[in-house]
Amino acid sequence: MNKCSKNRTFGQILHDEVLQIHDKTFEIFIRNEEIQTEIASIAETLNTEYAGKEVVFIAILNGAFMFAADLMKRVTLPCEISFVKVSSYQGMNSSGRVDEVIGLNTSIKNKHVIILEDIVDTGITINKIMTLLATEHPASIKITTLLYKPEAFVGKHKPDFVGFSIPNSFVVGYGLDYNEHGRNTEHIYQLKG
Ligand code: IMP
Ligand code: MG
Repeated sequence: MNKCSKNRTFGQILHDEVLQIHDKTFEIFIRNEEIQTEIASIAETLNTEYAGKEVVFIAILNGAFMFAADLMKRVTLPCEISFVKVSSYQGMNSSGRVDEVIGLNTSIKNKHVIILEDIVDTGITINKIMTLLATEHPASIKITTLLYKPEAFVGKHKPDFVGFSIPNSFVVGYGLDYNEHGRNTEHIYQLKG
């Protein structure tokens, strides 16, 4: 038996109901069965709304990898999917940070773009992504997110398709992390208050 099959990820103790990561304790919040039901419903909506259109899904790494994988199994539209990261670097001739989307390996010009996010919190990340993608002249851009915190939202673009609207508390699991740990669980957990 190799080491990995005996021990879960370092720093993570999982008893299904409770998740311990580093110094924090999280408790079960949304079970995988509920997540899958909601994903099936989102897929059904997208399959209807985008029928006959040329669609490109853009999943935002790292957090959206599980959501994207499960959603795409239920999307029956002919479509492309690209996984991207949003990064910020020091511009050559300016003192400010410059944002860029890395990994977009297909043209989105005149295509219908559906962004896949794990969570929309303040909405600042989505603002950046929308601004950057708009320069490529897609036919349309809509935002699909598994989780949305309306109380924290201060952005310009509200998500169009939402799995769960949740209170303004910290969650992990099913792709979402706490200091890069906790992404590899099937359920979503909430910080124990
Ligand atoms: P924004 O505030 O909408 O720009 O969200 C920025 C990013 O913060 C999200 O894409 C997530 O990666 C992360 N984030 C926001 N809220 C949570 C949370 O409750 N758990 C884990 N990550 C979060
Ligand atoms: Mg994220």
